[in-house]
Amino acid sequence: LDNGLARTPPMGWLDWERFRCNTDCVNYPDTCIGEKLFKDMADEMSSGGYLEAGYEYVNIDDCWLAKERGPDGRLRADPDRFPSGIKGLADYVHSKGLKLGIYEDFGTKTCAGYPGSEYYLQMDAQTFADWGVDYLKLDGCYSDPHQYKDAYPAMSFWLNQTGVPILYSCSWPAYVVGAGDTPEYPLIAKYCNVWRNYGDIQDSWDSVSSIITFYGDDKGNFSDVAAPGSFNDPDMLIVGNFGLSRTQERVQMAMWCIMASPLIMSTDLRTINDESKALLLNKRAIAINQDALGVQGKRISKNGQVEVWTKPILPKGSFAFAFLNTASDGTPRTVSMKMADMGMTSANGYSVEEVFEGGRMMKLLPNDTMTAQVNPTGVFFGKATVM
Ligand code: GLA
Repeated sequence: LDNGLARTPPMGWLDWERFRCNTDCVNYPDTCIGEKLFKDMADEMSSGGYLEAGYEYVNIDDCWLAKERGPDGRLRADPDRFPSGIKGLADYVHSKGLKLGIYEDFGTKTCAGYPGSEYYLQMDAQTFADWGVDYLKLDGCYSDPHQYKDAYPAMSFWLNQTGVPILYSCSWPAYVVGAGDTPEYPLIAKYCNVWRNYGDIQDSWDSVSSIITFYGDDKGNFSDVAAPGSFNDPDMLIVGNFGLSRTQERVQMAMWCIMASPLIMSTDLRTINDESKALLLNKRAIAINQDALGVQGKRISKNGQVEVWTKPILPKGSFAFAFLNTASDGTPRTVSMKMADMGMTSANGYSVEEVFEGGRMMKLLPNDTMTAQVNPTGVFFGKATVM
């Protein structure tokens, strides 16, 4: 979507994967879906180095709404859980130099059963703009799949009409894929800044690896549609939670960077462990994700449980790459590939480094072979800069 936003994949935080739909703020004041959670995260993001690293959106997912619209027909936040209202929360988030995102659904209800935007798209777009919302995730529950093609572009139009820049995240293709069809990605890219195209991420390696497989299979060539302003969204980063080992957390971070994915964390930034935090803040990894070319990396080979992925980056002719070992049987594997077979054909050669640790460089020519040891359910994340 050519609205000036998401020129690189958006970065931020979203509550859903980690905090779900807990609305009991009496018994769970720190983890319920209420303004305290988002204020706490805004505090952590501005003081904990996340904003500096590029994470700027604090996003609210489902379950923020009151059960009914107001007497004027307008949406309103649950008054007990969001006593300052969304406008008050947006002001708070903006005062920290951050931006606020929100969630709605174009059907009659949100996925969790709160009031949807059906028949109210224009009014709701205006309400979000009036509140100072900077990002909208529009879901597709409780609707007729035949409506997607009209409803998602319609909301794109109404958001644009407000004159306020609001990044637009669509769940459109996820529902098309869910129905067994192949989405019309170029059409989606015309109307949306980012779009979900696969099922919801869960706190497990199975979930992360199934998403990577879907992106590697690339049915409908959706990787080619990614560009500044328009990115595929494989869902949130679950780094810092319960389900991944440290090695697997590195896989998710590396692959989300290679796939030019939105980097939307969903973890408790108040209690995250130091290693997971350092991974989320890794500057060299983030730079690859945020590369200005905005090209999505692709899986270029799959040999049993070993995959090779490459992503073109600047300076022109350079690449980030990943050697991914999805085997969980134990002991590291030696993975090798000739540079030229990875598309690295410049006669001047490449300066190659491991991304997470950085530092040690080696010079490789197109006929040289890149070799690395890759742990089970692990990754070697590399960068080859053209010389
Ligand atoms: C759907 C979406 C999730 C989340 C929930 C909220 O399942 O795909 O990302 O927003 O709804 O109910």
